[in-house]
Amino acid sequence: MAASQSNGQGASVKGAKLLKRVMSDFIGLNTTYPLASGGQSRRVYLDSTASTLMMGVAQQAIGAMLEHYANTHSLLHNSARLATSNYRWAHERMLSFVGADPDIYTAYFTGSGATAGMNRLARLFKELRPDRDTALVSIMEHHSNDLPHRKHLGRVVHLPNKMRVGSVDLVALEALLEQEQGRVNYIAVTGVSNVTGIINPIHEIAKLAHKYDAFILVDAAQMVAHIPVQMSGRDDPEENIDALVFSGHKTYVPGSPGVVVARLDHLMQTEPVEVGGGMVARVLVDHYSVTNKFPDREEAGTPNIPGAIGLATAIEVLDRIGMQLLYDEEEQLLAYALEQMMSVPGVIIYGDPDIKACPRVSAISFNVGDKHHSIVAAILNDYHNIAVRNECFCAHPYVIEMMPEETADFVALSDEAVIDLQAPKPGMVRASFGLYNTRADIDRLRTALEDIQQNFDQYAPLYEIGGSDHEYQHTSFEAAGEATFNIPGMLDSLLTRDP
Ligand SMILES: Cc1ncc(COP(=O)(O)O)c(C=O)c1O
Repeated sequence: MAASQSNGQGASVKGAKLLKRVMSDFIGLNTTYPLASGGQSRRVYLDSTASTLMMGVAQQAIGAMLEHYANTHSLLHNSARLATSNYRWAHERMLSFVGADPDIYTAYFTGSGATAGMNRLARLFKELRPDRDTALVSIMEHHSNDLPHRKHLGRVVHLPNKMRVGSVDLVALEALLEQEQGRVNYIAVTGVSNVTGIINPIHEIAKLAHKYDAFILVDAAQMVAHIPVQMSGRDDPEENIDALVFSGHKTYVPGSPGVVVARLDHLMQTEPVEVGGGMVARVLVDHYSVTNKFPDREEAGTPNIPGAIGLATAIEVLDRIGMQLLYDEEEQLLAYALEQMMSVPGVIIYGDPDIKACPRVSAISFNVGDKHHSIVAAILNDYHNIAVRNECFCAHPYVIEMMPEETADFVALSDEAVIDLQAPKPGMVRASFGLYNTRADIDRLRTALEDIQQNFDQYAPLYEIGGSDHEYQHTSFEAAGEATFNIPGMLDSLLTRDP
């Protein structure tokens, strides 16, 4: 056996061992809640696309770091030096995680997720090329990768998908690039859909973008925790990605910031949007000069240092396991989930369910026949302790495209009527996955869906639409109310306990 091959196998054996250890060390895997049918059970968390659970070692790293906590803008005392060097490591970690050459790109932390970064990038590209007012945005996008371009750049043209619910249609994309030549500033596309989990061919899209002198901006919020990413150093440099954003809270560290990775030459040409401490070289009463150091220039004010270090820790662990191994494992889990869910009569899966023909990770959206998504999600929670998300997942155009008949009335409403709507919106149920999910979790979901399908007539009279969100609610059972968990109550017992 060649040495490199045996090293590769050695690394994957090591990675698999580490994965086994890490996957059971997430906070909240053993959380229990009462059931409407009586008793308690362990929650099955299938809502990682919204936010993942917290990796245990990331929390430990934050705890250890807090022993040395200090503001990174302080300079000379021991804790300031340690906070600063670890915070610097966190930035370096972000760049290497997404395969971005540090001579070409910088990574900076912003806001609490991908949204702040996307708004910044839309403004950046507008300023770089004010004569180009158009972004090509896929129909699959989360609103965070659509509305910032409408608001800050001006004009958005939506890209269709292959066969309506596959990945972005490259033929249609090239036709649009041709048609809109000279106007397209950039293409904004998700790496992975937060609705169907379908993976887009971002490097082929990059190549097309660059062929027509457009930039490419990738929303990697659902991508980085699931599949390997390489922004630069591709064999064909036209496939490199110009800018990318992701969310720390979807990458196993709730409470961590969002991340932007962008080209230094682009950022250098514009003044930062946010101004304040930390990003200036000098301030006089009549003018100021902005530092040319990155990432400082883009991080005005005191950053979320513990959150960033926690995120870098989680990313270090993901890389030690190996992103390719994580992807392979997740692909198998999703294939199993699709098979199990489709075995339940009446379950409708959105997007091509052939995972080989249409690769996907992270999420599966579905409905159970014509049962409302809101009551299905409520029964999954109340009777089966399965946490899922329902409705439109901040991706209205995509959901509308996949459910044209069911959403027709909603589309026809006036904006005022939608704002005052006293009923749940149309939509789907979404089961989504993190590296802690197992086949046993999927089996619980399949059993629950079978139960809903078989016993719906008994469940339906127990629910009515209510609450400020106008969703289906159980008429007599409140699964997790005030008594289950509240901070003042927790403090009462914590602060009266003997030290
Ligand atoms: C694909 C995608 N992009 C962007 C976002 C927005 O991320 P955040 O809420 O962290 O800003 C989300 C959140 O669900 C998402 O799934």
